[in-house]
Amino acid sequence: MTGVEVARTVAGLRSRLDAERAAGKTVGLVPTMGCLHAGHASLIDAATGNDLTVVSLFVNPLQFAPDEDLADYPGDSEADLEVCTLHGADLLFSPSVEEMYPGTGVPEVEVGDLAARYEGASRPTHFGGVATAVSRLFKVVGACRAYFGEKDFQQLAVVRQMVAEHSIPVEVIGCPTVREHDGLALSSRNVYLTAPERGEAPVLYRALQVGAAVVEGGETDPGAVVSLMAEVVGSAATGELDYAAVVDPATFETPTRITGAGVRLLVACRFGRARLIDNMAAVPA
Ligand code: PAF
Repeated sequence: MTGVEVARTVAGLRSRLDAERAAGKTVGLVPTMGCLHAGHASLIDAATGNDLTVVSLFVNPLQFAPDEDLADYPGDSEADLEVCTLHGADLLFSPSVEEMYPGTGVPEVEVGDLAARYEGASRPTHFGGVATAVSRLFKVVGACRAYFGEKDFQQLAVVRQMVAEHSIPVEVIGCPTVREHDGLALSSRNVYLTAPERGEAPVLYRALQVGAAVVEGGETDPGAVVSLMAEVVGSAATGELDYAAVVDPATFETPTRITGAGVRLLVACRFGRARLIDNMAAVPA
């Protein structure tokens, strides 16, 4: 097992990667906020298909609202380094806030209508902050393939849209959600769940499964699917549903009818300190 090189400055990382690319090497990037779990590890595994794998670890203050958990966002840099090493990453980019945002630190990337719905409606400044951090990372890392988990499906769509609109030379690759044995999607915020909340949290996955099954069985009314999913999530005494939705996976608009192309099912629910999200594709049989 070889060690992972740690870069803390933009200049250091950039010169290293420019040299690799000049030698014809391909670069894979896994953007993270640390607290790496098996979901992140699967992204690193996918990125190692490139010649050089970079994992970024930056807890981005711009994507947290003042009342959110920035101050105590979970993290353990030793454990993160171990995950990177075990999964074959070559470089860990771990900049300070000043290094990432040497200017005013004000969100600088406009995100459109796509970012105003669902997660964007519940967390109005969130996607502007995400897009700013990811755009900075893409500028620093340069041409690469970047790997994002489908668990944050709307984030993935916002990043894809940003890349297309700004002609950024990055290929964005979405990777499947990694789940616990009972279906709970892995998330750094799962550590906030108390035992009773953890017991009920897989209700999100069950709601998505029920929704996907009725779509597969021929249900074409998005409202009916939403009601079913909300009913399933509602069975969790410790959970408080934020939204259940049926959307077009590209626009995040709700179709009038579900057609053969299929839809994406979304759910968000608060369990005490943890706000959890999940999603699933649903395609008529
Ligand atoms: O998904 C995350 O961990 C973050 O939103 C990201 C993409 C690293 C941007 O800060």
